[in-house]
Amino acid sequence: MTRSLASSPPEVTLGATAGSQEVLVLDFGGQYSQLIARRVRECGVFSELLPHDASLEEIRTRAPRGLILSGGPASVYSEGAPHLRRELLELGVPVLGICYGMQAMALELGGQVQAATIGEFGRSRLEVRATGRLLHGLPAQQSCWMSHRDTVFAPPPGFIALASSSESPVAAFEDPARDLYGIQFHPEVVHTPYGTDILKNFLDDVCGCDMEWSAASVADDLIEAIRAQVGNGRAICGLSGGVDSSVAALLVHRAIGDQLTCVFVDHGLMRKNEGDQVVAAFRDHFKVPLIAVDAEQRFLERLAGVSEPESKRKIIGEEFIRVFEEQAERLEHPAYLVQGTLYSDVIESGGPTGAATIKSHHNVGGLPEELGFELVEPLRALFKDEVREVGLQIGLPERLVWRQPFPGPGLAIRIVGGEVTSERLDILRDADFVLQDEIRGAGLYRELWQSFCVLPADLRTVGVQGDERTYGYVVVIRAVTSDDAMTADWARLPYDLLERVASRMINEISQVNRVVLDITSKPPGTIEWE
Ligand code: XMP
Repeated sequence: MTRSLASSPPEVTLGATAGSQEVLVLDFGGQYSQLIARRVRECGVFSELLPHDASLEEIRTRAPRGLILSGGPASVYSEGAPHLRRELLELGVPVLGICYGMQAMALELGGQVQAATIGEFGRSRLEVRATGRLLHGLPAQQSCWMSHRDTVFAPPPGFIALASSSESPVAAFEDPARDLYGIQFHPEVVHTPYGTDILKNFLDDVCGCDMEWSAASVADDLIEAIRAQVGNGRAICGLSGGVDSSVAALLVHRAIGDQLTCVFVDHGLMRKNEGDQVVAAFRDHFKVPLIAVDAEQRFLERLAGVSEPESKRKIIGEEFIRVFEEQAERLEHPAYLVQGTLYSDVIESGGPTGAATIKSHHNVGGLPEELGFELVEPLRALFKDEVREVGLQIGLPERLVWRQPFPGPGLAIRIVGGEVTSERLDILRDADFVLQDEIRGAGLYRELWQSFCVLPADLRTVGVQGDERTYGYVVVIRAVTSDDAMTADWARLPYDLLERVASRMINEISQVNRVVLDITSKPPGTIEWE
């Protein structure tokens, strides 16, 4: 998969606060480029991605401690293959090339790179001949994860070949005099057990980083940056109760106090008690000025008679913007809008991906530019798990920090194939409550990416309860594991848990007489049913 990156760096550049302790990943289009930056951060070094053709001036200005050249889908010999500029290897900054990055380095410096007849994909055995600096302290034999066709057959002059695998005569090389290093395999994936050690060798021994960065340690810097941006202006934040907007709102409140007002739009499509919990946490506990708008009737009226999924999303998105705008007007239009944009959103919206629109996610719950706010996005440089760390650091309760993702259009896209009515919403809310209660009770909540129920709107089935014939609703249980929602697997929930869930749903919700389990992975299914 090839992506293109935003060429402008996030406004909140933690690299600056990291005091030139950062290591930049230059992205040659690899699937794992983001993961490299995440792993580097996990090692205690701040890291961001830049496009492979980022200007030398920008790179010099950021004064990184090291550069990592990512993998990529191209062959170094194919037409239009991303070019590695020689100047990058002569900046006086250590460089580690991974996969395509290594091949491009080898080619540029006079090594021998060829397209092998058979590629090398998946687990491989690495034979280490000399550990050098890069593989220092690591075993002579280890497994690693490969994904390549082009192969380095001879290192460039001045380099030492460190290791080989069955299909890669030179699977790792280095030239410590020029501080240039390369590995053919992927240290960032879990299938390379010594991958983190190799990255640490590079970051610590070669680049001399102090290895002390952590998400929790940057909360104060983020608060300072918000203060600098907003000054004594006023800000507004659409609070959904999800972890991203919650952490963003609380950071901004810490920075500018009551210059911030949060708006929580209760569209009536929330889970049970959710609205009350958000109000209790923010208004009562954290004392954040909060307007809770009860807009259930408005949304239900606009959704009446609608069952087509994209129409529902569109209506909910539009109505959300309208309600939000009204509140902004009542507050005499603050100049700043707080949003919980994450680093993955920044990277992924960097350019046209050419991907088909499967669902119009980002049109729902998002606010259009025409509203005329200046954006405050304190989480722009952070990954989701780092946002959770920051949240815990600034005192958000675990229950909020570890909340599973919940879609902007809420339960409306979980009542499928028919109209969204308040009776159906109540049934779905009650079913969802039982499921969450049992999953939390079994200690499984955090292991699941999401767990929820779906209600087929117009489907009834026959049952028998207490010798009586029933004709009731079917509740679908959907529980998935995933790292990023791009792919997902259905969760193997224990049978006894499923049994308790089914019997409680049927006993406690009179309109329900059947419970079924969705065992579709993604792809081919999506996580939500609409
Ligand atoms: P799918 O169903 O496409 O969902 O596999 C992937 C992830 O996105 C969430 N999702 C949404 N989030 N607004 C959101 O904020 C939406 O309209 C929306 N639709 C789906 C979904 O819950 C899953 O985590």
